[in-house]
Amino acid sequence: MSHEYSSMPHKDAPIGVFDSGVGGLTVVREIMRQIPNEKIVYFGDTARVPYGSKSKDTVTRFSRQILRFLQTHQVKTIVVACNTASAYALEELEKDTDIPIIGVVKPGAKVAAEVTRNGKIGVIATEATIGSQIYTQYIKQLNKNVTIYGKACPLFVPLVEEGLWQDPVTDEIAKRYLSELIDIDIDTLILGCTHYPLIRSTLGRIIGENVTLVNPAYETARELKEMLGNKGILNEEPPALGANQYRFYVSDGAEKFKHFANSIIKYGILSAKTINIEQY
Ligand code: DGL
Repeated sequence: MSHEYSSMPHKDAPIGVFDSGVGGLTVVREIMRQIPNEKIVYFGDTARVPYGSKSKDTVTRFSRQILRFLQTHQVKTIVVACNTASAYALEELEKDTDIPIIGVVKPGAKVAAEVTRNGKIGVIATEATIGSQIYTQYIKQLNKNVTIYGKACPLFVPLVEEGLWQDPVTDEIAKRYLSELIDIDIDTLILGCTHYPLIRSTLGRIIGENVTLVNPAYETARELKEMLGNKGILNEEPPALGANQYRFYVSDGAEKFKHFANSIIKYGILSAKTINIEQY
């Protein structure tokens, strides 16, 4: 089966966005703010979260299935709203399709390289993202005179997926994870996992107000807007009345996801549907 895009995508086609779970909603929220006319099809791989402790082969296989699923919705572009999949699978996905694909790592790296003053940048992310060294590579390309300190924080994703955003347990774990970055005196901290902006206030309080928190979502949405504009496929018209502008799919637990999505995105998520991603 071929998944090539045979003709120029239409402006009116949706943007596909995916993550291992709810984390990508922090990126969706930003896309909705910056380009409100766009339609979005979101997929959260809730049956197989977390990705951050899995191998490159597994994350790539999952990401390929999701790409194929999103293509059944005739998406005009795909945003990999997951740092782990951006680190492990982005290049492979680009080989599979002509549709432009944007990840979250490059945009975040760019902001961090620009905002640091003392040249000490911390990155917190999944084991996979830290192990891949991808942030270090990108930031070094932009600014050789900085040092990047990576810290894997594997417990944050399950805490976020369980809704423990403002909980003493999350506080305690964050203190442990961040203590070495505090000792190093970083001045910039990249939230290198799309789940982490949901515990941003805890992280900000613990790391201290002198540290700039970088959430790659904002920059990703900005790059997306620019790319769509350059290709002439930015949707300038609001969707027709009654059009299903935002569609959400998951691989498990649609009700729980919908509840979550409604607390993150204030647009009122009408529905979330469970699909069998293994079919793709
Ligand atoms: N939200 C994802 C990321 O940005 C994945 C987290 C996970 O599933 O481990 O890395």
